[in-house]
Amino acid sequence: MSDFNLRDGDTIDFLLSRRSILARMMDGPGPDDQDLRKIMEAGMRVPDHGRLAPWRFIVIRGDARERLGATLGAAFLKNNPDAIEEQVELERERLTRAPVVIAVVSRTVKEHKIPEWEQILSSGAACQTMLIAALSMGYAAQWITEWYAYDPEVKQTLGLDTDDQIAGFLYLGHEAEEPTERNRPDYNDIVSEWMPTD
Ligand SMILES: Cc1cc2nc3c(=O)[nH]c(=O)nc-3n(C[C@H](O)[C@H](O)[C@H](O)COP(=O)(O)O)c2cc1C
Repeated sequence: MSDFNLRDGDTIDFLLSRRSILARMMDGPGPDDQDLRKIMEAGMRVPDHGRLAPWRFIVIRGDARERLGATLGAAFLKNNPDAIEEQVELERERLTRAPVVIAVVSRTVKEHKIPEWEQILSSGAACQTMLIAALSMGYAAQWITEWYAYDPEVKQTLGLDTDDQIAGFLYLGHEAEEPTERNRPDYNDIVSEWMPTD
């Protein structure tokens, strides 16, 4: 057995009880440079068929949250011309709910023998791994897309290629409010065992 297998129960206990802390229940401080790097290095270790690294991580923090927020406000108003100022302001301030936000970008290699679907799945794995990494280090974390993950102007402002997709924004901070437990699916509704019929 590999020395890297954790068998003391800590990891499985954590996985069986962890939950996200909603962005609106966060405050500062967020991870410093060293912890942020650890979180993203964990994200870069995900299963990645063909070693294509089909993901990019963009850190948004400090004043950059307000600068990108201005684009969110303008894009929201463009899509919702009847919006009142309070709604636009809410959109402008979305990224400031947490001190640090990571945009996780799915950047697939097209026409490759590794199916694009598998490359996209790897981005989901990167999001979940960074979520777990951050939570395990004691940070509050939530994986969010909201509307702006799909907005062409927001994507352009982030410097994305036209084919890039945003797998999610990972909001990272500290827990300001303890979350209540969320209902989980029933084991028997999800799990079955295939039996050969012949
Ligand atoms: C791809 C993806 C996008 C999500 N986008 C949102 C979102 O826009 N807003 C939201 O409230 N939750 C969103 N969620 C759900 C939360 O990340 C999370 O599932 C929920 O807060 C409960 O998390 P937990 O099971 O870790 O406690 C998204 C989840 C995934 C996987």
